[in-house]
Amino acid sequence: MVKKDLKIALGSDHGGYELKEKIKAHLNSLGYLVADFGTDSTDSVDYPVYAKKVCDEVLEKWADFGILVCGTGLGMSICANKIKGIRAVTPENTFSAKMSRAHNNANVLTLGQRVLGEELAYEIISAFLNTDYEGGRHQKRIDMFE
Ligand code: RB5
Repeated sequence: MVKKDLKIALGSDHGGYELKEKIKAHLNSLGYLVADFGTDSTDSVDYPVYAKKVCDEVLEKWADFGILVCGTGLGMSICANKIKGIRAVTPENTFSAKMSRAHNNANVLTLGQRVLGEELAYEIISAFLNTDYEGGRHQKRIDMFE
């Protein structure tokens, strides 16, 4: 079942701007509620600014999940994971995307425009958004680092 009632906070730097725009159109076409926190062009900007904006929306519970795009997904992931309560992942295949939800209760997905084609990015996003956290034995481990 596709969960279209989810709210998604979306952001990128210049290195992820084009893929972020495609993801926004894709998610909107599927009926998701998407809020775009920039950037708004390919002009050079600093990815930590956008990581913070999107993660704040997740922590404040406006958004169910955040999606951040930069050149590799890595800078966004490093920034997001410095914020308490954020569990950001950079899966480059659908299995990892599913497991990041099922076992790690990831709440932010970071993607690399220079790494992924748009179709694979959409598949990864679908796997991420449509997999539930399993809880149970996994929660103890999350509590240990939270
Ligand atoms: C920008 O050139 C690039 O460094 C940035 O998008 C990102 O890949 C950093 O991790």
